[in-house]
Amino acid sequence: MRPLLTATGFRRLALPSVALIAALLINSLADRVPSSIGLGGNHQLIGILREFSAAALWLAGAWVAARLIDLLLRRAAVTGPRSASYPRLLSDLIHAALFLLAAIGISTFVFDQTATGLIATSSVMIAVIGFALRYVISDVFSGIALSFDRPYRIGDWIETSPGTIGKVVEITWRTTRLLTRDGIAIVVPNGLLATGRLANYSGAAPSFRSALRLSLAPDIAVARAKRILLAGALAATRTYSDLRPDVLLSECSDAGIVYMIRFWVPDYGQENMCRDAVMEGVLYALRRAGLTPSASRREIISKESDSDHAQGRTPPEMLLLDSELFGAFSTEERVHLAERLVERRFREGVTIVHQGEPASTVFFVREGALEVRSTGAPGGEIAINRLGAGDLFGEMSLLTGEPRSASVIALTDVVLYELDKEDIAPLLARRPELGEALADLMLARQRSGRARLDAQEGEQALELRSTSARLFGRLRKFFSLPDVGR
Ligand code: CMP
Repeated sequence: MRPLLTATGFRRLALPSVALIAALLINSLADRVPSSIGLGGNHQLIGILREFSAAALWLAGAWVAARLIDLLLRRAAVTGPRSASYPRLLSDLIHAALFLLAAIGISTFVFDQTATGLIATSSVMIAVIGFALRYVISDVFSGIALSFDRPYRIGDWIETSPGTIGKVVEITWRTTRLLTRDGIAIVVPNGLLATGRLANYSGAAPSFRSALRLSLAPDIAVARAKRILLAGALAATRTYSDLRPDVLLSECSDAGIVYMIRFWVPDYGQENMCRDAVMEGVLYALRRAGLTPSASRREIISKESDSDHAQGRTPPEMLLLDSELFGAFSTEERVHLAERLVERRFREGVTIVHQGEPASTVFFVREGALEVRSTGAPGGEIAINRLGAGDLFGEMSLLTGEPRSASVIALTDVVLYELDKEDIAPLLARRPELGEALADLMLARQRSGRARLDAQEGEQALELRSTSARLFGRLRKFFSLPDVGR
């Protein structure tokens, strides 16, 4: 719980309180001050002192009240459910009301004048000024209405007219100041905000839903297209974990089927980055699936990628040629392995490998998204990574013969290729040094997986070196390879 009076609050209250106490003292000692300075019985001076100190008492009272209310409102704004800055307009409004009250108090109680007389004499002047300043007055009253209605707060992302989107940085009497994502300051008169349509992207919560649209040729099965697009968007959740993407059909015509890839953006300021990550993931997944986008919407993503077929590569060959883990193998060796890959299809939700299970095969992901989960964690099962098109899993058991170190579950329908230990063993027997390279690459992959543990770098590097040696030892034993002098 925040204390009511912090050091800053105390400092802000000190000066007005001193003024209040001084006015109070002068007012109560007004009769005695003239005699104490040798002007005893001077009634005129006593009268002036009384009036002056009474007026000062009203003003100091308003000052203390204004500072106190400011403190309370600021505290409420900071500790509220959506911590936000406290709008200056409301503060100014309260100050004006309190000082106006003090002025009426002084006129009525100190000078025995009625406030109505004052208001009547100035009404003509007010009308003239009012006409001249009608737009300013409209903005000010709109500002007052907005400060009570609060359709937005400081820190919210709002759209005031199509394309004008910015973060609210200040709300003043007349205007609301916005800062765009490109750092441009926009000043919008409050009158415009109060009368026009306003979209608040930070409304109830800072996150909001955005979407990308993409056309695919009508001959691509809808279920397959959805699977590839969703898996691509899910790949972006490695960077932005709360995207929760989904894919819907949006339009259908002879030219193509338009899909809408929707995702949640944590904060409007990050929308471009989220779109970039989702688009990158989707394009990558399409490419891995052998599909390629083209510039014209009419021919967009019409057929299997030309670049793959131009070189006469099959999808399994492309997967192996792009695989980092098999980087030490020659093109011929990888093409030879690709011929041994067996296509496997799994439905969404199926556990493809179970943690602790003995196995010796590796899977390459052609289409779909998967999650790696560990069941050994103290808090129960936890997701440790997401895999998508182009990734592989199961290499630990394939290369060392150890039980599966984690479970891998299909998040969408998936198309995989499986490679067995027996298919790789003849290659390793011929070239044992490839096993060494495989152990190193396996370690590099693990290291990148562990990159989040960036603390204790020195210790980690040491541990990984010793693990590398152990890993190669296990691999050699599993494949009965001769010692290559490591
Ligand atoms: P394997 O142990 O054969 O079976 C489970 C697989 O999950 C494992 O091989 C790796 O391929 C994969 N895996 C385990 N941990 C991670 C991780 N942190 N990131 C990505 N993949 C992992």
